[in-house]
Amino acid sequence: MIYLKTPEEIELMRRAADLTSRVLGEMAKWVKPGVTTHKIDSVAKEFILDNGGRPACLGYGGFPGAVCIEVNEVVVHGFPSSYSLREGDIVGLDVVAELNGYNGDMCYTFPVGEVSEDVLKLMRTTKESLYKGIEVCREGNRIGDIANAVQTYVERRGYTVVREMCGHGIGRKMHEDPEVPNYGRRGTGALIKNGMCICIEPMINLGSRNIVIEKDGWTCRTKDRKPSAHYEHTIAVLDGEPDVLTTFDYVKEVLGDRFI
Ligand code: MF3
Ligand code: CO
Repeated sequence: MIYLKTPEEIELMRRAADLTSRVLGEMAKWVKPGVTTHKIDSVAKEFILDNGGRPACLGYGGFPGAVCIEVNEVVVHGFPSSYSLREGDIVGLDVVAELNGYNGDMCYTFPVGEVSEDVLKLMRTTKESLYKGIEVCREGNRIGDIANAVQTYVERRGYTVVREMCGHGIGRKMHEDPEVPNYGRRGTGALIKNGMCICIEPMINLGSRNIVIEKDGWTCRTKDRKPSAHYEHTIAVLDGEPDVLTTFDYVKEVLGDRFI
């Protein structure tokens, strides 16, 4: 069941998404060699709570962190841990903040210090594919149009799409209908309507598309242990057009000319 939001609800979604975006900006300040992923998690948790929100991942289905932390070959749902970031790593920070009963969800993959040109290109292409998906997230199109836009963009450049994990609807719940895959055929899937709020989140691999879920039941990594990149925005369809509720502007402020 897809819940279409009223313009008033979309304004509440925008406030939750803004908090989520500011959390990502706070975490960005800590992405550097030697910092543990636990530290980044606690920075996010405190910032959300201090601003009247709730870290929606914490306790969700038993998830142990306030945010998901994805180092190198981890695709999604990595646990915060005592691991210290190292020069050359990449790290995806995926955060969901609930504010006044509505959720914002986003992810940005950061380079830690200098990373190889190959990996930088994977990150850039993944981020660009997110915007290719957003462009076609408009009234009258279908979810398959988004899926196809992402898939076509990355596969033409030699990367692979993780198929087992998808984007999703969002609102009062972090995960609502519809599912938003990153591969598929144009003209298929649910019709996009005004009031629809979805998360588009390409998870793109440098090597093969195959994944493995670790024994902890959560951590999803590439089977070949090659790196994977992940970017995500929360988007509402308003007046027929995509309205991106989350923003990477706060991350950009922190990274300066290192923003990709
Ligand atoms: N953005 C992630 C997702 O949509 C958030 C997961 S939170 C978790 O799957 F608790 F499920 F890990
Ligand atoms: Co999501």
